[in-house]
Amino acid sequence: MSELSVVSGKSSENLAKELSKTIKANFVKSEIRVFPDGESKITLIGKLSKKKSIVVQSIYPPVDTNLVQALSLITKAKENSSEVIAVIPYMGYARQDREFLPGEIVTMNVLGKLFKSAGASKIIIVDIHSLIGLKYFTIKTKNVTAIPDLVEYFKKLSLKNPLVVSPDQGGKERAKEFAKEFNSDYIALEKTRDKKTGKVKIKTKNLAEVENRDLILVDDMISTGGSIIKATQFLKKQKCKRIYVACTHALLMNDAENKIKKAGVTSIISTNTIPGKTSKVDISKTIAKAIM
Ligand code: R5P
Repeated sequence: MSELSVVSGKSSENLAKELSKTIKANFVKSEIRVFPDGESKITLIGKLSKKKSIVVQSIYPPVDTNLVQALSLITKAKENSSEVIAVIPYMGYARQDREFLPGEIVTMNVLGKLFKSAGASKIIIVDIHSLIGLKYFTIKTKNVTAIPDLVEYFKKLSLKNPLVVSPDQGGKERAKEFAKEFNSDYIALEKTRDKKTGKVKIKTKNLAEVENRDLILVDDMISTGGSIIKATQFLKKQKCKRIYVACTHALLMNDAENKIKKAGVTSIISTNTIPGKTSKVDISKTIAKAIM
């Protein structure tokens, strides 16, 4: 038996399978039965390594269910293996990393405590929303970037005089990194978000430099699609050519994919941190590098 086992949560089964092949680990599958009241009953199929287990489970919707499953898998892995690494490709709650309005609970702080007490000694996350979220963990942390993998995909497309665009100033560094790997220019729009309603607005006015160019809108995640839709509507008015979207985590809530396409986006490309129609980029080799 391998010295390593990859314990696959249901939300990341394919990614965990790819990862186990790359790192030559024993693959341990979880079977889930969800009771009528919403509780999950998890059964592991396969043998856990005595030495090291790697639990892989993204925390996308149903967020709390996937979170409890992740913590349960880590707890069980720790009963068998002396070392447990938690790979959380998409870290739900990462946007709740500070008190934006008085009285708000910083849920990332709660998660930091939970992952430690479940038994993980290290956590690997792909493109966490902000590095601030990592400060709540007292175990080792590693944030892995999916940008080189996304760039590889985009290099295969024939784009016309491409320009990388971040929909907001918060994503400027991400756009810069993407542009550097892609060998192009980049810009960042000015976006505001109402802290109560969540509604977004683009504050940038005229932008002649996008005219007649293909654009790649780069973001860490798409949830409702509000940020991408507003940016697309603005950029189309500035007479750009095609708009592509590159993002790590495509949650695409409430028919967001159709709404984004309707706004004028040619194609959305995301990674398999969240499996779905747009997840064309496999991130397992990059995660493997962070483990080995
Ligand atoms: C915001 O700072 C993030 O980077 C994303 O732009 C945002 O969370 C996406 O959410 P939505 O799709 O709901 O606008």
